[in-house]
Amino acid sequence: MIAGSQRLDVVAEFIPRYWKKMPMSDATQIVAIDGPAGAGKSTTAKEVARRLGFAFLDTGAMYRAATWWAIDQGINLDDGDALAAHTAAMTLDIEERDSGQVVTVNGQDVSAAIRTPEVTNLIYKLDQNSAIRKQLVELQRRFGEKQPTVAEGRDIGTVVFPKAKCKIYLDASLDTRTNRRARQMRKRGQAYDWDTLRAEVHERDEQSKNRADSPLRKADDAFLLDSTDMSWDETVDAVVRHAQEVL
Ligand code: DC
Repeated sequence: MIAGSQRLDVVAEFIPRYWKKMPMSDATQIVAIDGPAGAGKSTTAKEVARRLGFAFLDTGAMYRAATWWAIDQGINLDDGDALAAHTAAMTLDIEERDSGQVVTVNGQDVSAAIRTPEVTNLIYKLDQNSAIRKQLVELQRRFGEKQPTVAEGRDIGTVVFPKAKCKIYLDASLDTRTNRRARQMRKRGQAYDWDTLRAEVHERDEQSKNRADSPLRKADDAFLLDSTDMSWDETVDAVVRHAQEVL
C-alpha cells in the first residue's frame, strides 16, 4: 500500500451509529505520533508512512480546514454551538499526492489557505470545542480502521488510538521548533519575525497542553523522542526502527 495514494473522504454531517460500534482498529496497524507544534511530526510521519507502506493521516490539517471554513463563512468563532454545527456540515477531503497534500473543503482546494498565520492563530477557538473534537476523532478512527495508518496530532496516542502498540511523542526544544517553523514559512514565501514566531509557538504549546479536552501530553506507553539534536533522517530512522520493534 502506498501512502501517497491514500485518500480520506469524509462527510462529517453524517456519522453513522455503527462506526461507534465497530471494533477499535487493529492496534498493531497504527503508528501514533504526538507532540508540540514544530516538532516535525508531519514531515516525519509522512516519510515513516511511506517506508512502512502505511497510509498517512495529518489530523492537524482537519482542525485547520474546519477553522479556515468557519472564518471563510463568517461564523462567530466565540459561538461554540454554531462552530460545531458548521463543522458537522463540512465535506472534507484530504489526499496525499506525490506532489504534496491536497486538502479540499466542499470541493475547494484550501491546501495553502489552511497554513496561513491567521488560521494557525485561531485554531484554538475550535480545537478546544468538545463537539468538534468528537466529530473529527470519529473520522480519524474511521480512517485508521480502513487501513494501516501513521497518524500524527496532539491526542492520537491518548484519545484517538489509545490501544495503538506504537506510540511516539516527538519533541524538540522551543528554539529548534521555532527554527523549523521559520524554515517552513520561508519555503512558502510567508513573512515572519523570529521572536514573534517563537512567542506564537510557545503560546500554542500552552493552549494545547492546558486545554480541558484532550490536552497534549505524552501517553504513558509512548516512546519519547527528542529530536532537538537529530537530523530529519535520523528522526525518521528512529521512528521506523521503533515501529518495527513493537509492531
Ligand atoms: O499540527 P498542526 O500545527 O497542523 O495542528 C494545528 C492545530 O490543530 C494545533 O494547534 C492543535 C490542533 N490539533 C489538535 O488539537 N489535535 C490534533 N490531533 C491535531 C491538531
